[in-house]
Amino acid sequence: MASLKALGGTSDILPEETKRWQTLEQSAHRLFDLYGYQEIRTPLIEEAGVFTRSLGEAAEIVTKQMYLFQDRGGRQVALRPEATASVVRAFIEHGLDKTSGVTRLYYLGPMFRAERPQAGRRRQFHQMGVEVLGSNSPYQDAEVMALLMHLLRDVGVAVARQAGEPGAILQVNNLGCLQDRAKMLEALKSHFTRHQTELCPDCKERLKVNPLRILDCKQEKCRSVAQGSTVPSEWLCAACKKHFENVLQALKALHVSYELNLHLVRGLDYYTKTAFEVIHLSLGAQNALGGGGRYDDLVEALGGTPTPAVGFAVGVERILMVLKAQVETAGNTPVPPRVFVAALGQDSLREGFGILTKLRAAGVSSVTDYEARPLKRQLEQANKLGCGLVLIFGDVERDKRMVTLKDMASGEQTQVPKEQCIEWIQRRLELVP
Ligand code: HAM
Repeated sequence: MASLKALGGTSDILPEETKRWQTLEQSAHRLFDLYGYQEIRTPLIEEAGVFTRSLGEAAEIVTKQMYLFQDRGGRQVALRPEATASVVRAFIEHGLDKTSGVTRLYYLGPMFRAERPQAGRRRQFHQMGVEVLGSNSPYQDAEVMALLMHLLRDVGVAVARQAGEPGAILQVNNLGCLQDRAKMLEALKSHFTRHQTELCPDCKERLKVNPLRILDCKQEKCRSVAQGSTVPSEWLCAACKKHFENVLQALKALHVSYELNLHLVRGLDYYTKTAFEVIHLSLGAQNALGGGGRYDDLVEALGGTPTPAVGFAVGVERILMVLKAQVETAGNTPVPPRVFVAALGQDSLREGFGILTKLRAAGVSSVTDYEARPLKRQLEQANKLGCGLVLIFGDVERDKRMVTLKDMASGEQTQVPKEQCIEWIQRRLELVP
């Protein structure tokens, strides 16, 4: 008799791994709590309409990936491919859309998508996510993204601070409102129809049902056609543009690094305005660690009182893959200290030594030159060690009770009051939000 095995694309999580899962889950519970979110647990199976009406009848998740079956009572049910639609269903069903104020919810748990299994693509996988219902504010979009990056940092995923640095990268785009979308789709349809013969078979299908999705096809030939095409940002109304400007400003205020990706569109139809994804190059083809965005029309579309909303979900298996890759790389590459404290002259060295100790106590790896050599020599040392930041402290700084901070990648120098420099550095290195 053939031996029984777990289904392809599903995995047992054995005791040697469960500790890692528990640690991740505990970090998530703690952080979501800190930001004022409360846990919701929705069923793993739902009436299929919850997803077809939310994600879009034509979305690939619905047409190709949803586990869909008839139950014994003849109802069409589905294993949840994601949780946003279920959370919105529950929000309406329990009358939360009738209450005023903002509802902040989070969830952890398995999702199901019948995709072709490969590294980072499972049929049963796990997400941790949040949904905020009832806020229009661009600060809320920024908070959700800041929370996602905070969670990644907390569980040990390195976050890139600028292009070219290894680590997780937050990419953002503005998909506009439904009115903008209609104009966008028309323009995209006409562009891609002209280049139809150059598209891959999947994109030929997408052209019929949702030409927006061609923009983020990974196939080389489709990417080159997409390069010459219009992008969502060209079709935005003034209100959607303004909202996005404010989101980006709020991200800056929260010291969250991001990249604009004008071709980012997401695979679910419910998004409006802000859409974002966190990618990590070590993940290969399935490079998204997490994603989300605003979905201001979904509550109404599912029969509730119009309620603006925004959220994200992150893939647990993909986080674990990144953490594993980091450990493997760290085995070969020494991790440089983050800060070099360059004190100029013996008098400054005494105080510089104090700053160094405080930096280390605050968890910032740092070194100094106890010989207090000339600045040029110390900068050479910092460069050789690979320190990203040099804290310069000489007579001028001492007199002004300031320190000078030099970003070694850009050469940019900033003066910061000495008393605030530890916090400034922690923020700059994104060790705190
Ligand atoms: P999503 O981008 O479809 O968004 O999924 C979020 C994350 O789940 C992905 O970035 C990835 O890490 C993980 N994931 C997705 N599919 C698989 C798979 N087959 N195997 C392993 N991991 C996978 C959503 O699900 C939205 N509900 C996010 C959201 C919340 N938007 C607003 N609120």
